[in-house]
Amino acid sequence: MPTLFDPIQLGSIQAANRVFMAPLTRAKATKAGVPTPIMVEYYTQRATAGLIVSEATGISRQGLGWINGPGIWNDEQVEGWKPIVRAVHEKGGKIVCQLWHMGRMVHSSTTGEQPVAPSVSTAPGHIHTYEGKRPYEEARALRLDELPGIIEDYANAARNAMKAGFDGVQIHAANGYLLHEFLSDGTNHRTDQYGGSPENRIRLLREVTEAVIKAVGAEHVGVRLSPNGSVQGTMDSNPEAVYLPAVTMLQELGIAWLALRESRPVSEFTFAETTEQPKLSPQIRKIFKNPLVLNQDYSPEEAEEAVETGRADAISFGRPYIANPDLLRRLKEKLPLQKDVMTTWYGAELGAKGYTDYPFAP
Ligand SMILES: Cc1cc2nc3c(=O)[nH]c(=O)nc-3n(C[C@H](O)[C@H](O)[C@H](O)COP(=O)(O)O)c2cc1C
Repeated sequence: MPTLFDPIQLGSIQAANRVFMAPLTRAKATKAGVPTPIMVEYYTQRATAGLIVSEATGISRQGLGWINGPGIWNDEQVEGWKPIVRAVHEKGGKIVCQLWHMGRMVHSSTTGEQPVAPSVSTAPGHIHTYEGKRPYEEARALRLDELPGIIEDYANAARNAMKAGFDGVQIHAANGYLLHEFLSDGTNHRTDQYGGSPENRIRLLREVTEAVIKAVGAEHVGVRLSPNGSVQGTMDSNPEAVYLPAVTMLQELGIAWLALRESRPVSEFTFAETTEQPKLSPQIRKIFKNPLVLNQDYSPEEAEEAVETGRADAISFGRPYIANPDLLRRLKEKLPLQKDVMTTWYGAELGAKGYTDYPFAP
């Protein structure tokens, strides 16, 4: 069996090792969603990861409600990404773009319109807006005639990502955002062909994945799911019933890799809801034949064990990559890990603080 430090092929991407950087929203782009120069340094510092998955990146203004989140729907944003991708490549790294429509998890003051979702609903809690913290607003249900436009937004964003030089894209279907909201019976109460049965709830993910594959080729496409648990209030009463068919569908479409964020009964993740719902990765592993990337709360030892026993092909690290730009070396040489500081996770106003100032091991 391979180790964490062995290379792996994901479709057309030759990753030098199996220590991946999980997608991490850091909110350093301009208000127009254009990446900024400090992001070049941040990503290049982390270029020894086998694969970097970019922070979630908006496919449209409607879908991007995170303040100072980056987008990839227009040329200016593509130009902003180019120096980042080039610099990562110059360091020998690989980077894919995570494609994001936030569904109901946005605020009209940022997107300019009422949030949209599969069904009328309101996300729990508060959202940061340019005018301060606000409660989430009620989302309206997407009309059937709007879905082709959203599917095209994903395809356009995928084409733009390839124009920017990315090695591929990851469709973000996890963490309570639009595609996850369609998958879950907690948020999808539609009575048309996009709601009800698992097959219907999977339909939008299928159509988006087909369109993205058509746009850039399956060898460049990965998908991220959060099958168990209830991230940001989106959950399913019976995850197995919808996620096993979803993974079968993704396998049939031939995506290059699948990434799972799995909740646990106990987590160090401060605000992710924990869950007693069992992990589905053992079952998913049997269905999905291309590389499987697992995530959440992996210690170095557990990550090594997961790859060496074949439970996963690679592990992605989120918080450890915030605080340890040289995570690969620290894992290889068993050096101590630095701890991330939650108060500096997000915020354009923080500049380098908690972003590019975590030291490398001496
Ligand atoms: C600051 C921060 C931002 C995140 N942003 C994203 C994101 O943009 N896209 C995504 O899919 N997950 C996002 N996540 C979730 C991480 O990718 C990952 O699943 C989570 O940190 C658990 O992994 P860990 O235990 O290795 O930290 C974010 C997590 C953190 C802490």
